[in-house]
Amino acid sequence: MQLDQSFKKVLEDYDKRLNDENQLMKSLSGVDAMKRRDEFLLPVGEDAAVFMNTLIKSAKSKSILEIGTSYGYSTLWLAEAARKNDGIVITLEADETKVTYAKHKLNEAGLSEYVDFRVGDALKLIKDAKESFDFVLVDVWKELYLPCFELFYPKLKNKAWVVADNMIFPPQSIEETKRYQNRIRNTGSFSSVLLPIGSGMELSQYDQIK
Ligand SMILES: C[S@@+](CC[C@H](N)C(=O)[O-])C[C@H]1O[C@@H](n2cnc3c(N)ncnc32)[C@H](O)[C@@H]1O
Repeated sequence: MQLDQSFKKVLEDYDKRLNDENQLMKSLSGVDAMKRRDEFLLPVGEDAAVFMNTLIKSAKSKSILEIGTSYGYSTLWLAEAARKNDGIVITLEADETKVTYAKHKLNEAGLSEYVDFRVGDALKLIKDAKESFDFVLVDVWKELYLPCFELFYPKLKNKAWVVADNMIFPPQSIEETKRYQNRIRNTGSFSSVLLPIGSGMELSQYDQIK
């Protein structure tokens, strides 16, 4: 995979931060880790990121929606693919501090012009979005998967890809992610499969005439 030097440098920074965070997390109880979750990157991880980057490039997706920017790890990989396709990533995040960090890193990677950062409640931002999408990453707090789905579903282009993270891990959120999985599989409009990549990704393709 060909990635330029500025991308690699930013990726190294994220990996270093992630390594430090993993050490810290190990020292915290589950309750404390949960209380402090906004301090952490909580990234999809490299396997999932490479998978999405490759899928976007091969599908030539141009209009990419990310629900849950966090500190921008996944945004970096989505934006790298968007640049190749001359597309754009619209990324949604409620926490302004995280967005400031993500903007800085995407700028360092030379990818700012391929990202439209939108700050606020994802539900409102999806409702207000005028765009339609050919790729969606769902990686927000898990109780929002289903309500987000109901809002972006009418905005999908035919053959759009939808990827939802954390289908297998962590176990505490499986009940919520399963609800999303059941809903998308039962619409009758998607081909959908669970992939054992990263924390488990539900990969779905929208087919209008199905
Ligand atoms: C698991 S993290 C996203 C990780 C990111 N996709 C990555 O791989 O680097 C989920 C993010 O969703 C954000 N979030 C939670 N509720 C939200 C809401 N109602 N609207 C927008 N963002 C929200 C959280 O602040 C958090 O940063």
